[in-house]
Amino acid sequence: MKLLSTTSLAGALAALQQHGVSAADENVVLDLKSPSSPISQPHTPQFLSYSFEPAFWTEFFGEPDSPRNLTFTLMNHLHSRGVRPIIRAGGITMDSMIYSPTQKTSVVRTENGKGGIYRTTIGPSFYKQWSNFPAGTKFVSTLNFGNQSIPIARDLAKASYELQGDKIIYYELGNEPTNYPSSRWKGSTESYISEWQRFVSTIGESISNASKGSWWASSATTDITALKVRPSDLIPAGINKTGQVGQYSIHSYAFATCDPAREKRATIENILNHTDLLRYADKEIYPSAKAAMDAGASWAIGEFNSIACSGKPGVSDTFAQALWTADVELIYAVRNATSVHLHQGATLVFQSNQQLNTPGDDGTPGFSSYSLLYPIDSSKRGKARVLPVFVSQLLVAEALADGGRIAALKTPAPLKEIEFSAYAVYVGEKIKRLVILNMKPHYNSGNGASSRRTVNVDVGQHRGATVKRMTAPAVDEKFTGNVTWAGQSFMDGAPFGTLTVEDVPANGKVSVRDSQAILVTFK
Ligand SMILES: *[C@@H]1O[C@H](CO)[C@@H](O)[C@H](O)[C@H]1NC(C)=O
Ligand SMILES: *[C@@H]1O[C@H](CO)[C@@H](O)[C@H](O)[C@H]1NC(C)=O
Ligand SMILES: *[C@@H]1O[C@H](CO)[C@@H](O)[C@H](O)[C@H]1NC(C)=O
Ligand SMILES: *[C@@H]1O[C@H](CO)[C@@H](O)[C@H](O)[C@H]1NC(C)=O
Ligand SMILES: *[C@@H]1O[C@H](CO)[C@@H](O)[C@H](O)[C@H]1NC(C)=O
Ligand SMILES: *[C@@H]1O[C@H](CO)[C@@H](O)[C@H](O)[C@H]1NC(C)=O
Ligand SMILES: *[C@@H]1O[C@H](CO)[C@@H](O)[C@H](O)[C@H]1NC(C)=O
Repeated sequence: MKLLSTTSLAGALAALQQHGVSAADENVVLDLKSPSSPISQPHTPQFLSYSFEPAFWTEFFGEPDSPRNLTFTLMNHLHSRGVRPIIRAGGITMDSMIYSPTQKTSVVRTENGKGGIYRTTIGPSFYKQWSNFPAGTKFVSTLNFGNQSIPIARDLAKASYELQGDKIIYYELGNEPTNYPSSRWKGSTESYISEWQRFVSTIGESISNASKGSWWASSATTDITALKVRPSDLIPAGINKTGQVGQYSIHSYAFATCDPAREKRATIENILNHTDLLRYADKEIYPSAKAAMDAGASWAIGEFNSIACSGKPGVSDTFAQALWTADVELIYAVRNATSVHLHQGATLVFQSNQQLNTPGDDGTPGFSSYSLLYPIDSSKRGKARVLPVFVSQLLVAEALADGGRIAALKTPAPLKEIEFSAYAVYVGEKIKRLVILNMKPHYNSGNGASSRRTVNVDVGQHRGATVKRMTAPAVDEKFTGNVTWAGQSFMDGAPFGTLTVEDVPANGKVSVRDSQAILVTFK
């Protein structure tokens, strides 16, 4: 042991007092008998799903005969754990997307030289590429509503149907109507609905696959806007009176770097405040979810991520993003979302003129730091690589497997709700798994570096029970090689390290350090 000199010891004690930190362990008991939420519906292999900005489709997936190895390697890790995602080729650029039957490549961006994208032209290869995804992958065929042209939208629908009809689970017309110029519908829910119904009925007349019960509505954001078109607004206003809606979709972004005021709030401490994540889910999202379920319909988070406008380096490209993603996905699983589409993309210059992020040199993509990976080498983000968040997808995939139904558990005393989140997953009538997330930030350096607390959680039983751990040296860890799931890291896609599955000790107490998560599986 290294001895501290008296002065540095005094300094350390002073720092301890000043920051009020204490490394004392906590012993807590989880109440598995009375969850704090209802038990959800059974989840399907489609729960873990994705949204990819169409303008950057080639960067993520390559061309049909030259698929991007790194992205497909990640997709395959999920597939081998039973995940059958729904891929939404969607986002802001779908609203200026045009189909060209003669274009050779998947995607051509028409840009202003500084990364501003006026148009995304896609050719048949864009759809042919869908055949490269693991078996069972479905797609949302996204259509341009931005150009206000039925022929443009219909050509996209027709091409997707003719090339990949059997893979299309829903069609979607328009991304985030809440962000359109206010001149379009002048704040009128009725004008939005009538134009949407006119487009959708006309398209459905020529493509039977895009008729009744085939469409997502409405993919609104939760921003405060004059136009009220969340599912909770649209359902009572009669969006489905012509019968086209198949499922309701809403977008979830609680934080943003779109302007300096919101950028300030987008910190690790704030995105890991579990109480605040619950507040956002219950206030902004659940009323739409409930309106859908009350109407006998299902609902999805059609697009979401931690920090709108492409994330925030130092926050969304760290291990904090893994804890955030796991917690938020499970929060929506408890509330019965059938799928949650984690968004992937790059900075969009026209999204905001006061955003933090910028594209790379000469308008090359400035990949979003909340993505699962940087799919290619880039001037902005360096070497292609997987980001620390990826391990969260393995945790959630394994947690919800086998039609798991999930419920939230009460915060065990003396822990605080903002720092701790736990879930029970039922398979049949029995609790088969527990997910325990210790959300309390523990940093690499600076405040509290020396005091990573251990919480010992009594899970009640131990015989044959095992633990997989999602961990990193600290919450702000950026190096993916140091971020592990069950002992393995995934920097270049391949698992690295020895698979480590721990046994629950005989006293039934499992340790979860600050900024760490575990999956307990009972026999
Ligand atoms: C989720 O669905 C189940 C039925 O499968 C229901 O009992 C439960 O109340 C729903 N949960 C929420 C939060 O609405
Ligand atoms: C990626 O490349 C490696 C090495 O060439 C290969 O073994 C692997 O099958 C490829 N993975 C995919 C998903 O194409
Ligand atoms: C679609 O709309 C965008 C933005 O208004 C515009 O720049 C583009 O020229 C339009 N494309 C077509 C084909 O009309
Ligand atoms: C389109 O048709 C296929 C069968 O070819 C079907 O599996 C799919 O569910 C249909 N999609 C929609 C949106 O109706
Ligand atoms: C919309 O209405 C049609 C026809 O009545 C129905 O089949 C479909 O389930 C409804 N969709 C939703 C999301 O409620
Ligand atoms: C955590 O979020 C809750 C709910 O929004 C808020 O009241 C509280 O102040 C937040 N705590 C911290 C430490 O930021
Ligand atoms: C993190 O990775 C670096 C580079 O491989 C290594 O030097 C360091 O020891 C790792 N840190 C921990 C705590 O594993």
